[in-house]
Amino acid sequence: MSDTAKLSVGDTSVEVPVVTGTENERALDIGKLRASTGLITLDPGYVNTGSTSSAITHLNGEEGVLRYRGYPIEQLAEQSSFVEVSYLLIYGELPTQKQLEDWSHLLTYHSLLHEGMRHLFDGFPQGAHPMAILSAMVGSLSAYYPDCLDPDVNKDTHFARVLSKIRTIVAFSYKKSLGQPIIYPRNDLSYCANFLHMMFAVPAEPYEADPEVVKAINTLLILHADHEQNCSTSTVRLVGSSNANLYASISAGICALWGPLHGGANQAVVEMLQEIYDSGGDYKSFMTQAKDKSSGRRLMGFGHRVYKNYDPRARILKKMADKLLPHLGVEDPLLDIAKNLEEIALTDSYFVERNLYPNVDFYSGIVYKALGIPVDMFTVMFALGRLPGWIAHWREMMMDPKRRIGRPRQVYTGPNEREYVPLAQR
Ligand code: CMC
Repeated sequence: MSDTAKLSVGDTSVEVPVVTGTENERALDIGKLRASTGLITLDPGYVNTGSTSSAITHLNGEEGVLRYRGYPIEQLAEQSSFVEVSYLLIYGELPTQKQLEDWSHLLTYHSLLHEGMRHLFDGFPQGAHPMAILSAMVGSLSAYYPDCLDPDVNKDTHFARVLSKIRTIVAFSYKKSLGQPIIYPRNDLSYCANFLHMMFAVPAEPYEADPEVVKAINTLLILHADHEQNCSTSTVRLVGSSNANLYASISAGICALWGPLHGGANQAVVEMLQEIYDSGGDYKSFMTQAKDKSSGRRLMGFGHRVYKNYDPRARILKKMADKLLPHLGVEDPLLDIAKNLEEIALTDSYFVERNLYPNVDFYSGIVYKALGIPVDMFTVMFALGRLPGWIAHWREMMMDPKRRIGRPRQVYTGPNEREYVPLAQR
């Protein structure tokens, strides 16, 4: 098969290299198109644009396949831990026993927050959205660890700080929102058990996390750990491409994740289900609205830019909800409403024709809710899970000797040149 494609523009004909990935994904490399034809490509929303080559995650949306560094998401979710998956994503291979111990040790010993940072929480108003607090706190980590500005410094410690301290920030912000005293991390606990301890322990009372809950948090974080060039990861790469430091790049990624079309969808799904429940549970009329563009409603947690088949993460989460809720003794009518909505959508021609299936956010909120995580913290949990992916992409980009600053072009549609009109004459 030819490894170039011929493109004709008027009388000019150019040969464009065809790049082929390890899963046979093919792309036209149009980097020199403008130099030879004067043309750029236009692709709003980057629907058909590859921004980079990457060896981290493979996603086949037509077949519903998701693999981290070649390993199927189903196997990692079932058999691995979040700490192991974070190592795999960032460094490219599953760790040996020794590598895993060293990595866990790094995470454990970077879990404390600088006491100065603890006081920053006091400056936020009561009721501030936890994503606003998170992005500000993560950006400010660069003020406390200024060696992150040095491009030659060993970055492993910074990677561990991001993973470990952000977990602490999340738990501290929850405690602050309740007005409860902060619970410090414990070095004898695993990553996820330590997180649950900081979230749910209270002074003067013994606390031990339920192993099923620890397993659930591990799985949830693994499922969110990477998803190739999504909106927030592309943001991390774009910000990092200007040589901005790791914390600044990740803080920007957190802001991108917040939107309800991206990571904010998990909160939006539960709010939507709650609204249906509160108004009498009429999910059928909600579905009619979701199909009517003039209603301004969408079936949140459905649809995906890349998946045109069932999102494999949603399948795992649906099974998890079915097992975990009875284990926790939680009966949530929102789960029944969600299943009813899904049943309709999977056979309704509007959804079938547009290949709209449940995505990762459709069931994750119901699971988080059952675990006692407040609704406005769902997206924070998504961010915690996505950290290894953001770090891995930032690292991959920084290690690429051919990397260039991200700087798209545009097709200008504004006024042509005109004379300035002084204020008195307007
Ligand atoms: N409910 C009703 N209609 C929908 C939905 C939905 N959830 N999603 C897409 N559509 C329709 C849309 O109106 C359009 O119809 P038409 O072709 O007649 O104009 C068609 O399906 C294609 O949708 P699109 O908005 O052009 O697709 P996109 O690739 O630009 O957007 C999406 C993808 C995820 C933003 C969108 O499906 C959506 O808004 N879903 C609801 C929000 C959501 O669940 N987001 C989480 C995404 S997964 C986790 C993550 O990535 O963070």
